[in-house]
Amino acid sequence: MPLHDDVDAFLTETLIGADPALDAALAAQQDAGLPAIEVAPVNAKLLHLLVRISGARRVLEIGTLGAYSTIWLARALPEGGRVVTIEAEERNAGIARANLERAGVADRVDIRVGRGLDVLPTLVGEDPFDFVFVDADKESNPGYLDWAARLGRPGTVVVLDNVVRAGAVADPPPGDTKVAGARAGVVMLGEDPRFDATALQTLDRKGWDGLAVAVLTDAVASEVP
Ligand code: DHB
Ligand code: MG
Repeated sequence: MPLHDDVDAFLTETLIGADPALDAALAAQQDAGLPAIEVAPVNAKLLHLLVRISGARRVLEIGTLGAYSTIWLARALPEGGRVVTIEAEERNAGIARANLERAGVADRVDIRVGRGLDVLPTLVGEDPFDFVFVDADKESNPGYLDWAARLGRPGTVVVLDNVVRAGAVADPPPGDTKVAGARAGVVMLGEDPRFDATALQTLDRKGWDGLAVAVLTDAVASEVP
């Protein structure tokens, strides 16, 4: 039987194919020494399709890295749509900016540099986001989800990366703050009435992990951010 890497390669080749702008973005990210922790192509395309399916015009991304997922999100936007993406590291943001320019989507993307929990409050008062992708430091997942609920509206789609962590989420190793954050995020999605959510395990070139997908409920409507 083929291994999951073989299946990932088959699905990626068959459904996505080569993409010079994305390949160049990954090469630039690698040359700069950034970690290869961007979403796998099959997951990036899921994000892209969810933006299109939901008709989202305003997309918020927490965790830009080299902008691989950002390019996929930006390409999904209708005319006049916008991605706001938050990146903690100035150097990563520079690489991301160059990658977005090379991909021809820089005019649709605002990179805000700073820690997510510092930048998010500055977005209060802007139009609500229609789609939020959370993929930054896992320790802050509950805080990021809280801000997604505050900055969204009923019907906003929220996607959370890395909710399985090679299975560790079901039995967190003591002291592993990333797993603890991932688990706390899933628990919040289950308990907090502002979210209606599910999660899928994924097995791709990055190994065994998972994505949670949620929609914001009417419980956010009465909130004043
Ligand atoms: C890590 C972060 C990610 O967003 C990811 O997709 C995989 C790993 C990490 O920090 O270990
Ligand atoms: Mg991730």
